[in-house]
Amino acid sequence: MSVLRSLLALAAGLALVAGCTTPPVAPSPGPRLSRMPPVASPAENPTTPAKVALGAKLFYDPRLSGPGTMACEGCHYRHQGWTDGLSLSKRPNGVMNTRHTPTLYNVGQLKLWYWDGRATTLEGQVNAAWGAQMAVPDTKAVADLIAAVAGYRDEFQQVWGAPPSPELIVKSLAAYLRSLDSGLSPWDRYEMGDRASVSADAVAGNQLFMGKARCAICHTPPLYTDGLFHNVGLEVGKEKPDAGRGAISKDAKDNGAFKTPTLRSVALSGPYFHDGSADRLEDAVRYMASGGMSSPNRSPLLENAQLTNAEIGQLVAFLRSLTSEEPAVKPRLP
Ligand code: HEC
Ligand code: HEC
Repeated sequence: MSVLRSLLALAAGLALVAGCTTPPVAPSPGPRLSRMPPVASPAENPTTPAKVALGAKLFYDPRLSGPGTMACEGCHYRHQGWTDGLSLSKRPNGVMNTRHTPTLYNVGQLKLWYWDGRATTLEGQVNAAWGAQMAVPDTKAVADLIAAVAGYRDEFQQVWGAPPSPELIVKSLAAYLRSLDSGLSPWDRYEMGDRASVSADAVAGNQLFMGKARCAICHTPPLYTDGLFHNVGLEVGKEKPDAGRGAISKDAKDNGAFKTPTLRSVALSGPYFHDGSADRLEDAVRYMASGGMSSPNRSPLLENAQLTNAEIGQLVAFLRSLTSEEPAVKPRLP
């Protein structure tokens, strides 16, 4: 147990080190029903409720893709845990993605974005997603389309004191993403003292998660991620393996490593893993509990926990209790 504790402390320490490089931050305003730490926003794009409301409209608006065929929502649906239910998604120009759409829950808490961490600011990530995922070669032309909508023109004037531009569209979207906090889940309510909010299986599953099954070493609460990159062996045997973090860090030891995903609301967001290779939550849990496929770069933190079927079921019951219950809000578009 003490080994696990020191590993947890190490993981937390590394996550803090990773945070040192971020710009100065200001806390976001507004009441929150969440157990996440407050979401920080950068000094050059402080979060305001009006900016979040504008960003929400842009997120749901297919006009952002130019031809009007796809909104950001087109791959990130709230009811699917901000993912799309597909192993791999298709961009509006027909190009297939090579990695599974990740959740947007708590993206404001991350320090690096994408499965390989190649984006170092959320604004930079949004700009890249707008260009690549939405297949928009000329964001200025799309900003002009948005500026032609009277409702948007007025709202940009109120929020920014300026007409729509690519930069302000990106900043508004980033502010909205920072608001996608996972609210209270039954497990949170259990930890706050409501002992009736989860099943006995979920409680047993949490004990396994924190202890014998060693999941919390990397899926560290309250975010259920350490924000780090690990190789869990999913690229073994593939014809063209995805280098993942290794392509960014240029360190061969990182080949095949991907960002630890948050497990908050994970029950909503299957299929699982960066390649969408596990259909059901139970499949993903079974794979992780087995220690993953053996390979030279596989994380030394992984090992076969030798769990019974009943224990796998308890882990799944615990993960299902992490599904948050905040209301879904879809804005009316101008
Ligand atoms: C065609 C599907 C598709 C569309 C449309 C799309 N995304 Fe994504 N999104 C993805 C995929 C796939 C990834 C992961 C790519 C990777 O890691 O290499 C991703 C990653 C992200 C991430 C990073 C999450 C993390 O954990 O690091 C954010 C944030 C995001 N998208 C926001 C947006 C926004 C904002 C828009 C609209 C401008 C958008 N997405 C449109 C498929 C899509
Ligand atoms: C060494 C760190 C580490 C440990 C220990 C670990 N995980 Fe993971 N987990 C990861 C990483 C990294 C990924 C993403 C792997 C990928 O897609 O290549 C992941 C992915 C997952 C996913 C898929 C989530 C999604 O959104 O796709 C689930 C579910 C999961 N882990 C559950 C568990 C459980 C349950 C345990 C304990 C039995 C566990 N993990 C132990 C690092 C870890």
